Amino acid sequence: MAQNGTTENGVTGANGDGSPPMPFPQPVKVQEIRHTKIFINNEWHTSLKGKTFQTFNPATGVQICEVEEADKADVDKAVKAARAACQRGSPWRRMDVSSRGRLLHKLADLMERDRALLAVSCGCNASCCCVVASPDDTFMCFTRHEPVGVCGAIIPWNFPLLMFMWKVAPALCCGNTVVIKPAEQTPLTALHVGSLIKEAGFPPGVVNIVPGFGPTAGAAIASHMGIDKVAFTGSTKVGQLIKEAAAKSNLKRVTLELGGKNPCIVFADSDLQLAVEETQKGAFFNQGQCCTAASRVFVEEQVYEEFVRHSVESAKTIVIGDPLDPRTSHGPQIDQKQFDKILELIDSGKKEGAKLECGGVAMEDTGLYIQPTVFSHVKDHMRIAKEEIFGPVQCIFRFKSQQEAIERANSTEYGLASAVFTRNLDRALSVSAALETGTVWVNCYNALHAQAPFGGYKMSGNGRELGEYALAEYSEVKAVTIKLTEAL
Ligand code: NAI
Ligand code: MG
Repeated sequence: MAQNGTTENGVTGANGDGSPPMPFPQPVKVQEIRHTKIFINNEWHTSLKGKTFQTFNPATGVQICEVEEADKADVDKAVKAARAACQRGSPWRRMDVSSRGRLLHKLADLMERDRALLAVSCGCNASCCCVVASPDDTFMCFTRHEPVGVCGAIIPWNFPLLMFMWKVAPALCCGNTVVIKPAEQTPLTALHVGSLIKEAGFPPGVVNIVPGFGPTAGAAIASHMGIDKVAFTGSTKVGQLIKEAAAKSNLKRVTLELGGKNPCIVFADSDLQLAVEETQKGAFFNQGQCCTAASRVFVEEQVYEEFVRHSVESAKTIVIGDPLDPRTSHGPQIDQKQFDKILELIDSGKKEGAKLECGGVAMEDTGLYIQPTVFSHVKDHMRIAKEEIFGPVQCIFRFKSQQEAIERANSTEYGLASAVFTRNLDRALSVSAALETGTVWVNCYNALHAQAPFGGYKMSGNGRELGEYALAEYSEVKAVTIKLTEAL
């Protein structure tokens, strides 16, 4: 330890309250090694494989001690403990913020109490020098929010204009430049906006649009050494490839907005007509080609039959036809591949025993039209209950208790959006807190606002779009600390 041991090198005025500085700890000559085991559930464990590894003092090369060596099974054990501790309703999750704050302060006090030991174990077991500079009266520190640099974006075909702006607008707000690839199915909207960007007077090179295919142009963006961040919206499978390519190239920042298998929970005390309308809007909007598609509707058993009956009546009134005709509200699917995938999933629903209430087939004339489809008596194990359909298919499930509905709603790898329908405010709030999704709508659906953050839990993605949270994704934060010659 090069610079410890004297108060001259100690902490000066670290308390920030004018109280005398705490003396820097004197070195502890004989270090007492207290802990060498694996720490799980606040207990010390030996390695499940019975292995240990040596740890050395890098200053002398002398072995300090042997430490229990964790392997995969020990990590599994630790993850199990951590999962249990963060379960909803656990003491840690129920603890209020003040108590959590008290615990953190207590920990800080304990670290201060043991600071000599900690400093020595740090110095002996790592090669760090203990130079402590703490922002106090003679330092001034401020932060700058700076552009990340060149932002790549890869967007899907379901909302070509909206997705373009969700990526480009925050990137430009924060001073970045952009290389964006529209989906191969829908390059034209983006290219038109390109012409508007030029017309508006943006300097050349600020926004660049590269229409092309995923494995070529898309992959080139994800792995490019000259791109500092990539934002992607699309399938979970491709999201994984993007993150992998980013990690293997220059560790560019990644934000992902991926799929969903979004649950709605309809309680018997809700305004049932409203719930029917909103959940159906959620299921059929844009022909179901939405990451937020309300594809799982859990309905409390007392109102189940009535809800299904109204939903079927409502689905049958939807006018199908040319999307440019203002009288229609239901157009074709995007392409043959999606069309075939949806019909195949509808078929699996029938085969697995769900009850097809209406729709389920393509329109007979030309075009890739699929009739709005309602399945009742859907069971959680069925493919239509688990896979993202991305088509006009509403699946209706029955539930008995609130707890059961929450558990089933959460039992998916996705976590994008959800909805609760109830007139009981307490219930709306407690169910909203329990749902593992980035967005929860109460008595409404697809109510998106530019100011409200949007993004997913779990495999629905990383990061948030819209609102201030989006700006954070597109900026670097720099802390500038200045040593002043006199206290301010
Ligand atoms: P996709 O994820 O393959 O395509 C989305 C975008 O990623 C497109 O611009 C595509 O060119 C690009 N892409 C594809 N492969 C890539 C790669 N290897 N590297 C970089 N970029 C790549 O989605 P696709 O095939 O259009 O649809 C498949 C399924 O994905 C849909 O059925 C739906 O379930 C889901 N999806 C979800 C969307 C959402 O809004 N979250 C949007 C589109 C699709
Ligand atoms: Mg694809």
